[in-house]
Amino acid sequence: MATARICFCIFALSLLLAIASAYDGHDHAFEFGYSGSHGPDKWGNLDPAFSACASGKKQSPINIQKNMTSLNKSLKPIVRNYKPANATLINNGFNIGVRFEEYVGNISIDNKNYSLKQMHWHLPSEHHIHGEQFAAELHLVHKGGDGSLAVIAILFKEEGADPLVSKMEGGLKELAKDKCKADEDSVIALGTLDTKQLNKSSRKYYRYVGSLTTPPCSETVTWTILGKVRSISKEQIALLQTPVKADCKKNARPCQPLNGRKIELYDEAKDA
Ligand SMILES: *[C@@H]1O[C@H](CO)[C@@H](O)[C@H](O)[C@H]1NC(C)=O
Ligand SMILES: *[C@@H]1O[C@H](CO)[C@@H](O)[C@H](O)[C@H]1NC(C)=O
Ligand SMILES: *[C@@H]1O[C@H](CO)[C@@H](O)[C@H](O)[C@H]1NC(C)=O
Ligand SMILES: *[C@@H]1O[C@H](CO)[C@@H](O)[C@H](O)[C@H]1NC(C)=O
Ligand SMILES: *[C@@H]1O[C@H](CO)[C@@H](O)[C@H](O)[C@H]1NC(C)=O
Ligand SMILES: *[C@@H]1O[C@H](CO)[C@@H](O)[C@H](O)[C@H]1NC(C)=O
Repeated sequence: MATARICFCIFALSLLLAIASAYDGHDHAFEFGYSGSHGPDKWGNLDPAFSACASGKKQSPINIQKNMTSLNKSLKPIVRNYKPANATLINNGFNIGVRFEEYVGNISIDNKNYSLKQMHWHLPSEHHIHGEQFAAELHLVHKGGDGSLAVIAILFKEEGADPLVSKMEGGLKELAKDKCKADEDSVIALGTLDTKQLNKSSRKYYRYVGSLTTPPCSETVTWTILGKVRSISKEQIALLQTPVKADCKKNARPCQPLNGRKIELYDEAKDA
């Protein structure tokens, strides 16, 4: 993978939020983190735009307990049909992600199309399965025509290297060296990223309705948590942690109350 370093710093979306909230006297209120005075239990008070983080009733992530989950035979397999696409590696300070610069592919949920826009990592995992937290979680963020989101979450245990992260190791090392200011994104062009590793079909997934796991915690997300746990190496975890802010090295929001929501299970093995 060529990682031509056309690295430059651009203003983050968070800075726009800062400008919007500056005349409230909430300077730097936008800066959320994962511990202390800017930690997850404070997000709802950092900025009026983040109020759903505190008052929302359909928040994410959640702990997927077996006894709260029901098999739904009407759920369909998620056909992922992604193609290689021009991509950019981004460090926004609170996580590392990849933005796709062109069409990668669509998924269909309940006859609605969602287009893959970006993906990013959380370390350790945000969703728990029967109380178990994993080493990492990748979020594939798809957007529908009406602005709603469908996120596919892939869980990783610490073991062998993940082939997708292997393709961007050069870029991740560059990000670690980059000296952007705290409120700026650092970006590195990846060129054409082969998305074959994301293309696999899944025999099992969990489905529920929830929110973004970072501010503003908007409750517009249809979640799909894949049942198959993949592997990521210790070295790759370090590569994904090194470039982000000190209080975001561990960037998993704690599990949120289910508040009566249903968790549905798609399981090909039990569908016959
Ligand atoms: C589900 O299981 C968890 C732990 O195993 C338990 O705390 C909880 O009460 C159970 N909930 C129901 C509805 O059975
Ligand atoms: C099962 O899945 C279908 C298709 O997504 C959905 O329309 C239906 O409401 C679900 N049923 C239950 C009981 O959740
Ligand atoms: C990839 O996208 C970037 C950002 O839009 C653009 O500058 C670059 O020219 C694109 N590269 C290719 C090969 O299309
Ligand atoms: C979804 O995409 C398929 C092709 O990928 C297309 O045939 C269909 O019309 C689209 N549906 C909507 C609702 O956009
Ligand atoms: C992909 O989905 C988007 C809506 O999210 C739709 O506008 C677009 O037409 C779809 N493209 C294809 C090729 O299905
Ligand atoms: C993904 O799978 C589809 C067939 O299901 C194939 O057409 C496409 O080329 C594959 N994409 C990649 C990147 O391998």
